[in-house]
Amino acid sequence: MRIAICPGSFDPITNGHLDVIQRAGALFDKVIVCVGVNPDKHPAFTAAERVKMIQTVCADMPFVQVCTMDGLLVDFAARVGACAMIKGLRAVSDFEYEFQMALANKRLNSQIETVFVTTDVKYMYLSSSLVKQIASFGGDISDFVPAAVCSQVRARLCKNERSV
Ligand code: PNS
Repeated sequence: MRIAICPGSFDPITNGHLDVIQRAGALFDKVIVCVGVNPDKHPAFTAAERVKMIQTVCADMPFVQVCTMDGLLVDFAARVGACAMIKGLRAVSDFEYEFQMALANKRLNSQIETVFVTTDVKYMYLSSSLVKQIASFGGDISDFVPAAVCSQVRARLCKNERSV
């Protein structure tokens, strides 16, 4: 069985993430979506909340398993028997950072491949941070995240919804 991990903060999961997970499912038998801790970020949702959201929106993708992850990606990948890690690329600007990570990860464990998956062009500009910023000012995020996530993001971040 070909297993890949799909790591990220997913704070929250967006339609762009979902597109990458779906594409990864066409390449691998099992995709383990792992919610990691990025020490440079202050998440709006707990890891448990993010896992629950991903499980909900990936309920129709039987190849997906969701969990939290701590430590190095290559160690986690080796522990779960994955041969690859999936990284979504939106624009050339993502590439330099991701390429550096891919080379560092290859140095740490040459058995784990980094597989870059390009998102659909309609999600090129999309990021979790953008979604959170729009929601915090009461903007419409329904085109950017699945419906089940939309209501949770609005409830957590939309100032007007919080005060009523
Ligand atoms: O870009 P994101 O979505 O915030 O990434 C989050 C995560 C957890 C995937 C990232 O912070 C990460 O890779 N953490 C694990 C540490 C690691 O293995 N780093 C690469 C070694 S060079």
